[in-house]
Amino acid sequence: MRRRFIPINVIIIAGLLVLLSLGPDQYKPPKEVMGRGKTLFERECMLCHQPESPDKEAALHPTAQWVFGTKKKLIKAVLNGLPDSAQMNENTQGNLMPSFQHLNDEQVSDVLTYIRNSFDNKAVAITPAEVKKVRALNARKAKKK
Ligand code: HEC
Repeated sequence: MRRRFIPINVIIIAGLLVLLSLGPDQYKPPKEVMGRGKTLFERECMLCHQPESPDKEAALHPTAQWVFGTKKKLIKAVLNGLPDSAQMNENTQGNLMPSFQHLNDEQVSDVLTYIRNSFDNKAVAITPAEVKKVRALNARKAKKK
């Protein structure tokens, strides 16, 4: 009898180990996405968002308010820009974040996936389809006015 339990225990432990090792990987976006996101970030965002900044929002630090909020809120922030609140550095004129409507769905998803997985951040990727959806919602709202 006793012998039978040993293999079952081993199987359970092996299974748990496999699950554990899969855990962190599911957050790992493809290299191409991170590469494109980094280029975009350096071109479009780094003027104001410097990763070494002591301001957690300017650094897009894990504790910044929006990086890990709902995806919709984050996508909207980049598509529409943000009103003033915090002085981040001398480049943030009037503390405003400009709109990035001109970036296409893939560019927005790439750069957001990049910030969600850089600077000690770790979060699931944003897809172009998710950006498209928020953009469509925005357009519908604008029509209503
Ligand atoms: C001209 C300066 C400027 C540029 C360029 C800029 N931002 Fe911002 N960003 C800001 C300011 C200012 C805030 C804070 C606004 C507030 O708190 O009301 C902000 C806030 C944010 C936040 C919310 C931070 C948080 O969690 O509280 C995110 C996310 C963000 N920016 C992403 C981006 C991305 C991605 C880009 C590039 C595509 C970008 N920003 C480019 C100025 C900028």
